[in-house]
Amino acid sequence: MDKILVHGGRPLSGNVRVSGSKNSALPILAATLLTRDECVIHHVPDLSDIHYMLQILSHLGAQVERASGTVTVKAEKIATEAPYELVRKMRASVCVLGPLLGRENEATVSLPGGCVIGDRPIDLHLKGFEALGAAVRVQGGNVKCFASQLKGAVIPLRGKFGSTVLGTDNIMMAAVLADGTTVIDGAAEEPEVVDLANFLNAMGAKIEGAGTRRIIVEGVKELHGAEHAVIPDRIEAGTFLVAGAIAGKEVKLTRANPTHLQSVIGALEKAGFRIESKKDSVTIHGNGAPTPLELITEPYPGFPTDMQAQMSALLCKTNGISTITENIFPQRFMHVSELKRMGANITLENATAIINGVDRLSGAPVMASDLRASAALVLAGLQADGVTEVNRVYHIDRGYEMIDEKLNALGAEIERVKV
Ligand code: UD1
Repeated sequence: MDKILVHGGRPLSGNVRVSGSKNSALPILAATLLTRDECVIHHVPDLSDIHYMLQILSHLGAQVERASGTVTVKAEKIATEAPYELVRKMRASVCVLGPLLGRENEATVSLPGGCVIGDRPIDLHLKGFEALGAAVRVQGGNVKCFASQLKGAVIPLRGKFGSTVLGTDNIMMAAVLADGTTVIDGAAEEPEVVDLANFLNAMGAKIEGAGTRRIIVEGVKELHGAEHAVIPDRIEAGTFLVAGAIAGKEVKLTRANPTHLQSVIGALEKAGFRIESKKDSVTIHGNGAPTPLELITEPYPGFPTDMQAQMSALLCKTNGISTITENIFPQRFMHVSELKRMGANITLENATAIINGVDRLSGAPVMASDLRASAALVLAGLQADGVTEVNRVYHIDRGYEMIDEKLNALGAEIERVKV
């Protein structure tokens, strides 16, 4: 198991190219199961979560080829059961349910594993499949869905914590081959949902309204192969913007989409950083300690929960008190105890972190607990005195393509050590 050593205090400057979005690529790869034809997907990031998804597609019978960032999938004949050994490694494997059910009218998938960020139910996904006419059974750790033919329906998909991203993806993918029209009310508006809808439409689906709360899917008889380029990863981009805020003289992100980053850019500007956005690049200028902030995580276009931990790392060193309230995953604060080991002054009140700014952080051995928490620990290490040892970095490799190499190219000093 690798660990990462971050030598703090090195100034960052230069350009960094944003990878393709993990959260777009995963459901898009799952969607290739909806056709017998070949699909070609570009800008697929080289991440362990992507490898797990490709393993699941292969297990289901698809021919999968990968050449650098391009993945070709041909799912001429497919099985309908994804076993626990593959699914347990990643929660997003649940998004093969929709395409399997859509194409074969049946799907069995083990209940997923993935990031430990609190209770992560899939009740809304299952409710959506039932509304489309599927019978759903949860038995022995598996979800089994089957139908004679899915039928379009009006599906209210909002839950206690708002919209669901993978739930919206799953229902869209099941509905594209259903009889009649499906209306998803309370759909997630995230750019990754739009990216998936664009890919499905390129395959011959008829989807309107992706990116709004109401998505309309008119069922078609079959889908054909398509070629698609995955959008830039807004969370990786946001993480590098925070790195630029923490240690940057001037850090420029290329192949970035500033529109998708508006809430993150807005928060960093409020914290006092100068940011220039162009069509597909964003540049941040370092400016010393940030001004304290009050942040609340919300569904897109609000401030993303996937940037909460990284922003907490930034706000550890300020002249004042910041608060971050987690509205999507109220238990997502595993990074807090590790940041405290580095000298941060943070208290938790229900789902709010109260961050009392300190003058310095000091390097310490810390434990990564989930994907974004591990990124936050690397970011904290960039601004700490001495060396920060981040253990269990397999979490970071799930979602950041070569984060150590990319940061080192900007001037950081990060070593990866095999343990
Ligand atoms: C996706 C992202 C993840 C991000 C999250 C929220 C992927 C692969 N992952 O996860 O990085 O943090 O969106 O932006 O795209 N919920 C229910 N019932 C359900 C489904 C969800 O109650 O059936 C709740 C969740 O517990 C959570 C909220 O709804 O409180 C939002 O979760 P959801 O949008 O579904 O997250 P994911 O799609 O799993």
